[in-house]
Amino acid sequence: MAAAGPVCKCPRTRLPVGGASALCVFVLCWLYIFPVYRLPDEKEVVQGVLLQQGKAWRSNQTAVTGFRKQLEDCCDPGQLFAMTKQNSPLGKNLWFDGEFLHSVTIDNATYSLFPQATPFQLPLKKCSVVGNGGILKKSGCGRQIDQADFVMRCNLPPLSSEYSKDVGSKTQLVTANPSIIEKRFQNLLWSRKTFVDSVKVYNHSYIYMPAFSMKTGTEPSLRVYYTLEDFGANQTVLFANPNFLRDIGKFWKSRGIHAKRLSTGLFLVSAALGLCEEVTIYGFWPFSVDLHGRFISHHYYDNVLPDSGFHAMPEEFLQLWFLHKNGVLRMQLEQCEAPLLQSSA
Ligand SMILES: *[C@@H]1O[C@H](CO)[C@@H](O)[C@H](O)[C@H]1NC(C)=O
Ligand SMILES: *[C@@H]1O[C@H](CO)[C@@H](O)[C@H](O)[C@H]1NC(C)=O
Ligand SMILES: *[C@@H]1O[C@H](CO)[C@@H](O)[C@H](O)[C@H]1NC(C)=O
Ligand SMILES: *[C@@H]1O[C@H](CO)[C@@H](O)[C@H](O)[C@H]1NC(C)=O
Repeated sequence: MAAAGPVCKCPRTRLPVGGASALCVFVLCWLYIFPVYRLPDEKEVVQGVLLQQGKAWRSNQTAVTGFRKQLEDCCDPGQLFAMTKQNSPLGKNLWFDGEFLHSVTIDNATYSLFPQATPFQLPLKKCSVVGNGGILKKSGCGRQIDQADFVMRCNLPPLSSEYSKDVGSKTQLVTANPSIIEKRFQNLLWSRKTFVDSVKVYNHSYIYMPAFSMKTGTEPSLRVYYTLEDFGANQTVLFANPNFLRDIGKFWKSRGIHAKRLSTGLFLVSAALGLCEEVTIYGFWPFSVDLHGRFISHHYYDNVLPDSGFHAMPEEFLQLWFLHKNGVLRMQLEQCEAPLLQSSA
């Protein structure tokens, strides 16, 4: 009792010492993996951001280079961003990153779907990464977003003309979660043409799909590939490399993000920081009020809230905000162009 008691204050000191210490080890491990910490609440974050708003943002080339070096060391985005013939040769076994004990062995059929190497001219110059946050509504940022050389978007967002003033229309890469293919396009079992028509807004974009993250995602992703090919569409599927996704996940975990899985947005910003010389991010604001205290919708196109507990959006935001403050990337939160004032006669 005396042996176990004072050290770690386990409640049940009558347990045999072995049991008590096992319990302690368990609790300590638990605390190590899920530390008890307090995130600043929404108001505090908004206040912090407001304090910074008056200051002009400046790029810090030393910090940009340093961060890119860290990403290269952990995750090598230039080589590993997508599955290619180079990094996923025939016969290679790849473990799914979102699933325990599930792997795929690259066979002829899968191999033939990969490009030889990452199909971008690296490094990309100016990149816009567009999240789907409601803060983009009435932002007038479309023109600025489209001025970048390379525009990345998340999860097949709507780009119809009613939104283009705020979010632009140019797209070089757009992510698509297999679950969206299931929900919006019935897994392409019926509505293949609807899908092909709906991705026309992305012009000649790559569609980046985590096909080998979850078991259930593989089939819909392959169907997207074959559908686009069969219809002679201008878009091409790139498969996310599960090793890359896993490494990026570990990278952020070591910096204190505790979520079951990173959001697509953070994956994409991380990739952009490794691939582009200059990164500006738009629509990354996971809060319900904007900087002027006005309520905003969850997305620029709807107000459907995500499942809670899966991603850690405020934590992710704070990491990105830290990069903004250090001049590694620029985060656009204010309006770019004031919306035209309604003339009041
Ligand atoms: C730029 O970043 C480096 C490394 O992060 C830092 O040491 C330096 O003070 C920064 N320079 C400015 C002007 O903020
Ligand atoms: C894979 O393709 C290569 C070349 O097209 C062929 O030589 C080989 O036999 C194929 N392997 C299998 C298992 O089909
Ligand atoms: C679509 O792509 C073509 C060729 O890359 C380009 O000329 C055109 O401006 C693009 N359209 C839009 C809306 O981005
Ligand atoms: C592919 O792009 C070209 C030129 O940008 C366009 O004329 C053509 O209609 C597009 N094809 C499809 C299937 O969307």
